[in-house]
Amino acid sequence: MPTVATFPSIRTEIGGVAVTELAKQYGTPTYVYDAAKIIERLNDLRAFDAIRYAQKANSNLTVVDLVRQHGAVVDSVSAGEIHRAFAAGFKPGGEPPAIVYTADIFDKDSLDLVVKHDIHVNCGSPNMIDQLGEVAPGRNITLRINPGFGHGHSQKTNTGGDQSKHGIWHEQLDDCLRRVDRHGVCVSGLHMHIGSGTDLEHLAQVCGSMEQAALEVGRTITSISAGGGLPIAYKEDESFIDIEQYFGLWDTTRKKLEEEFGHKISLEIEPGRYIAAESGYLIAEIRAVKTMGDNKFYVVDAGFNNLARPIMYGSYHPISIAPSSGELDRPMHDVVVGGPLCESGDIFTQEEGGFVAKRSLPVANLGDYLVIECAGAYGFVMSSNYNSKPMAAEVLVKDGAAHLVRERQSYEDLLRGESIPK
Ligand SMILES: Cc1ncc(COP(=O)(O)O)c(C=O)c1O
Repeated sequence: MPTVATFPSIRTEIGGVAVTELAKQYGTPTYVYDAAKIIERLNDLRAFDAIRYAQKANSNLTVVDLVRQHGAVVDSVSAGEIHRAFAAGFKPGGEPPAIVYTADIFDKDSLDLVVKHDIHVNCGSPNMIDQLGEVAPGRNITLRINPGFGHGHSQKTNTGGDQSKHGIWHEQLDDCLRRVDRHGVCVSGLHMHIGSGTDLEHLAQVCGSMEQAALEVGRTITSISAGGGLPIAYKEDESFIDIEQYFGLWDTTRKKLEEEFGHKISLEIEPGRYIAAESGYLIAEIRAVKTMGDNKFYVVDAGFNNLARPIMYGSYHPISIAPSSGELDRPMHDVVVGGPLCESGDIFTQEEGGFVAKRSLPVANLGDYLVIECAGAYGFVMSSNYNSKPMAAEVLVKDGAAHLVRERQSYEDLLRGESIPK
């Protein structure tokens, strides 16, 4: 892997398939995932004993199946994600457990499912220990500890510290161990996830907290999870994370615990973004080019109903143009990219706080395609039907061939389940 990211301003193909062909065959907006990128990113992480894919980042069945075929296990944060894991071929049980349910609560469906299928639970609240212990005593569980600090690419993705609802507060471990004893369950694992899209500096701080918590729990611990949070490079010249260095930090912590406890400790990692983000492209068509005072706008047929990260977090995504015809060599100019929604915040080139930003992009015409890159994580999964827009199609490109892996929603799908009382 090169040390810094580069992105093209003109993109003609994805995984060997022409963008124009993809757009013509599947329509726009469409998400396209490049299987080779997902496999490459999984391979980066092989030093860890288990790669537990956080399917919340991209839970398309084909993606979940792909990571399963390449040796990953899976994290599910809801009953729906447990059903997805089953549908993608994961079976409960195994060592490491093929499916782990990680949450701060049980709703009725999730509690029923984990009990019925003996799914390993990562408890994010003391109440979960009681609720599981009452109906399924004697189980092995993992505790998700909030180490008292956190960090994410945005305050909204910071999952540690006292502003966060996630995990068991580190000072309440002793209370949790009493609950564990009361229900005859066993803490076999510890997990810490301080935020999504954080950085190595903050991730490194977690190792010390994990060591301390594991020593407090004692010899029942057989696995530790570093959580997810690995960042990716979304901007030109941003550095890729040094995975070897990161693994080294955790391996040292693991070895210290192995020495202390006298048995093997399995080391898990739980990334979502790192595995899925770079594989994904959202293809849209430019439907209007207009000038508002000093600003030129490309208005495309994808909006924040398809990709919410810019409006949610002010996130930056690389953008390229795929000319539908004519010259590939286009001059650059500054533009704002917006979507079709009846909402002024429907802008892909915005900064946190909603400030519209200009982007240098190739000159493009109506009918050219615009490709929003690094959109494979927290893209489609966060989409909505706002403005009664059907959800986009999803396509997987593998070995130079494209496969439709989710149909575009129809207008019948949009109205399904609704009725007018007589
Ligand atoms: C419990 C848990 N694990 C893993 C992840 C994956 O995070 P990321 O996609 O940043 O790797 C998340 C997301 O915040 C999470 O909440």
